[in-house]
Amino acid sequence: MKNVTLEIDGRTVEAGEGTTLLKAAQSVGIRIPTLCNDDRLEPYGGCRMCMVEIETSWGRKRLVASCVYPVEEGLRVQTNTERVRRIRRMIIELLWPSSQVYAEEYGVTGSRFEPGLTDCSLCGLCLRYCTEIKKENRIYFEGRGIERRPALVEGSELTCRACGECFTLCGSGWIASRC
Ligand code: FES
Repeated sequence: MKNVTLEIDGRTVEAGEGTTLLKAAQSVGIRIPTLCNDDRLEPYGGCRMCMVEIETSWGRKRLVASCVYPVEEGLRVQTNTERVRRIRRMIIELLWPSSQVYAEEYGVTGSRFEPGLTDCSLCGLCLRYCTEIKKENRIYFEGRGIERRPALVEGSELTCRACGECFTLCGSGWIASRC
């Protein structure tokens, strides 16, 4: 695999082609907050908590989800700018309470959004784990927009309760409360 050289928070980092920015940063001890990422599962890019600021070699700046964005030669990455932190604070509020684990670090004390709309973060960890690791496919997303939520395939309650492996992945307790 070809190696790519880039800069993350002012440090020169080498990573194999196809490596995500998140993994490249982690490889040199730079921590980026995540909610929907799990090393056992395929990258998903659902929560946007891992947003970082990138600047291409031709000077274009933008925000990307580091858990799905691959390394590029000459890319400059900033993982903790004020712009990035402002977006993470908003995501913490939007995905409250699943995101509470980062509340103190980002100075967020609660969410201004209506409780009940935000209790499932739609990170997809439960259904991705059930599909990719357990090969059971017992959870799916139902509804659209703000009504979108994970749901159990009919008749799965007992099986899911007996397994329960995805419960620990869920920051809000949503899926456990449905079994
Ligand atoms: S951790 Fe990257 S989008 Fe969720």
